[in-house]
Amino acid sequence: TKIGILGVPFDKGQPKVGVANGPDAIRNAGLVDQLASIHKKINIKDYGNVSYEINEEIEKHVPNMRDYVHIASCNYELSKNVERIINDGRICLTLGGDHSLGIGTVDGHIKAKQENVCVLWVDAHADLNTNKTSSSGNVHGMPMALLASELSDYWPYLPGMDWQRPVISIRNVAYIGLRSVDAYERLIIDRLGITAFGMEEVENYGISTVVNMALERIDPEARRSIHVSFDVDSLDSLEAPSTGTAVRGGLTLREGVHIMESVYKTGRLGAMDLVEVNPSIGTEGDVKRTVEAAIHVIMAAFGHSRKGLIPRDAALP
Ligand code: ARG
Ligand code: MN
Ligand code: MN
Repeated sequence: TKIGILGVPFDKGQPKVGVANGPDAIRNAGLVDQLASIHKKINIKDYGNVSYEINEEIEKHVPNMRDYVHIASCNYELSKNVERIINDGRICLTLGGDHSLGIGTVDGHIKAKQENVCVLWVDAHADLNTNKTSSSGNVHGMPMALLASELSDYWPYLPGMDWQRPVISIRNVAYIGLRSVDAYERLIIDRLGITAFGMEEVENYGISTVVNMALERIDPEARRSIHVSFDVDSLDSLEAPSTGTAVRGGLTLREGVHIMESVYKTGRLGAMDLVEVNPSIGTEGDVKRTVEAAIHVIMAAFGHSRKGLIPRDAALP
């Protein structure tokens, strides 16, 4: 397994300070060493953090999209970085940062894999608002609506975003973990028949069946590169309190780990985002618990097994 780590210290998709420090909090907790300990063959390259310049050409204002120019400029750079890392033959692990970065990561993945991508959006929220339906104007609540080709007519012209092609069909996207869905998001999910496994479905079917059903629906032939955009607020706020829009009643850490173990077993993980860890929210203990939960979920994605792994090269002592 070859992994490329990319940090995105970006917080302009929502109003709270601190989420820009998510990538370094996760790194400082020992992410690379822990990944390296999974097995000897794992090859990790940390590409550092994305930096971007404001594109001054961009028309500054789009109605009801806060900090639009930052969103457009950062995601432009991010998409190019993700595309390059995947073209280097690595699974791209993006550390956020707020979830508006999903615009750039999914775009870069789609460009690298010639559109042969499906998306698992693991989140308490659907992030499916447009600038017309959002009650907050926070772009971290909009990335899925920007990515979905079926919703392209609902957007005004977005200056400086011509590179961003809304090419993922919503038929290749599934949600897991929903429990805070806005009224217009619900309308779109129902109208378009989007595959959405909320907490109710997790209870009804169990997480194992839910992941299998989700993957079957979005990629029936099992040949697409899988993009997992994992919002840490999908986890219950007892497991991951240090996040900007925590919602109680969420996934247990075990369920989060199970999702990623199942994705790992497909052998088709192409990119993963771990977003919305905010080290400025909560106590020191809260931050530690949240970061540890994030690392557990990431470890499962790259082959850590709760059963234990047999050493590849060792003879019996
Ligand atoms: N639906 C709400 C909004 O549009 C909350 C979105 C939260 N998104 C997130 N990535 N945490 O503002
Ligand atoms: Mn969320
Ligand atoms: Mn989200």
